[in-house]
Amino acid sequence: MVDVLLGLQWGDEGKGKIADFITPQYDIVARFQGGPNAGHSLHFNGKKFVLNTIPSGIFRENCINIIGNGVVADPQRLNKEIENIANEGIDIKNNLLISKKTHLILPTHRVLDAANEASKGDKKIGSTLRGIGPTYMDKTGRNGLRMGDILTYDFESKYRELTNKHLKLIQNLSYTEFNLEEIEKPFFESLEFLRNFKFIDSEYYINNAIIQNKKILAEGAQGSLLDIDFGTYPFVTSSNTTAGGVCTGLGVPPKAINKVIGIFKAYCTRVGSGPFPTELNDELGEKIRQNGMEFGATTGRPRRTGWLDLPALNYAVMINGVSELVMMKSDVLSGIENINVCVSYKTGNENYEMLPFDIADSHITPVYENFRGWNENLSVLRNYSELPTSFKNYCNNISAKTKCPISIISVGPDREETIYCN
Ligand code: GDP
Ligand code: IMO
Ligand code: MG
Repeated sequence: MVDVLLGLQWGDEGKGKIADFITPQYDIVARFQGGPNAGHSLHFNGKKFVLNTIPSGIFRENCINIIGNGVVADPQRLNKEIENIANEGIDIKNNLLISKKTHLILPTHRVLDAANEASKGDKKIGSTLRGIGPTYMDKTGRNGLRMGDILTYDFESKYRELTNKHLKLIQNLSYTEFNLEEIEKPFFESLEFLRNFKFIDSEYYINNAIIQNKKILAEGAQGSLLDIDFGTYPFVTSSNTTAGGVCTGLGVPPKAINKVIGIFKAYCTRVGSGPFPTELNDELGEKIRQNGMEFGATTGRPRRTGWLDLPALNYAVMINGVSELVMMKSDVLSGIENINVCVSYKTGNENYEMLPFDIADSHITPVYENFRGWNENLSVLRNYSELPTSFKNYCNNISAKTKCPISIISVGPDREETIYCN
């Protein structure tokens, strides 16, 4: 049985925190897409960790963590991440399994990412520059290299062939800001390091685990509005961040999927370029950014902030078949007298609740419903019954409008700062 946990907005909803929080209920946590563009923050025992490629179950004893075939991994970053975790006394050699089919981010994929972005001028995606797009392009273009390849005798020649292709592309883009030797050396050192880890046929491993009635959590990266098919294209990432990605990114049959847990913030954020109809480009937006410490976990970039967008949230609930919601960062809105929620969009005299083909269209304006805020500091509360009435009213409205129950409310970054709704 496979439960899915994924983000319903533009990423950074708090997936890492909740995956870590609920992991004691699971035997296996698996990442099915994305790569080190993700930054999943975990806070516990006074410490903070940011995970990029490793699933968020890694700090829980007896939990197996799988990097699935749908993921793209950068050996250098993975190496560093593993070392940081091993320093905490975690048995990562046994608890981390890597699919042989995981695609490799090569140093020249990162250069290509930077070269592509530089060539786009003001049409930049705002990529994390981790080489994600070029690596997925090589995967679908049938040129890519996979983890299993590093175990083969002719890996270096395959590597050289692909890198030479990349160098031509980089030259065509007139991009020169890199030194190949300098970036290749740590890459090959990391491969040596990684060869000591467990590479598996993860689709067999997971399907055997399903037969044995093991409980598996598929942990999404990014968010539904960054999905390559359903996100705000072209300002998206290069993978299927939505529930369908679980089947292709792990080899899980659709019938094995049980719950889909959708994570969303009580407001919205977005990092990088692209449309954001409810964005607040004012003092209030800045206040939310400061209160919520909305700066990228991976790149440190300030996140754009705005009101909750229900047409977009409902779209994500529909595409993913969300069975329960988890609302994050509720504490951040404390002290804001009037809270807006976008309930529909307007063009001319027409109102509609569906997400239009292009939400960047300047004729679209959000229609807001206004909610009374609350002043209480939510982060000290631990029981649903203690929550202020106006906050409960906010939650009940979202639940009614999405036709989905909210099962968990997060009131702070720490594991402890979490409230079950029943
Ligand atoms: P992810 O990528 O979805 O795992 O989310 P990130 O870790 O990138 O961003 C979420 C940020 O919000 C992190 O800094 C978390 O520590 C923090 N966070 C998570 N839940 C809460 C919450 O309920 N309240 C507050 N104030 N911060 C939270
Ligand atoms: P987590 O898992 C927020 C955004 C980038 C950029 C776009 C494409 O932490 O929620 P890419 O590097 O994938 O080519 O960038 O997607 N982006 C994220 N934004 N959280 C993430 O991951 C993101 N991963 C990518 O900012 O706009
Ligand atoms: Mg993040």
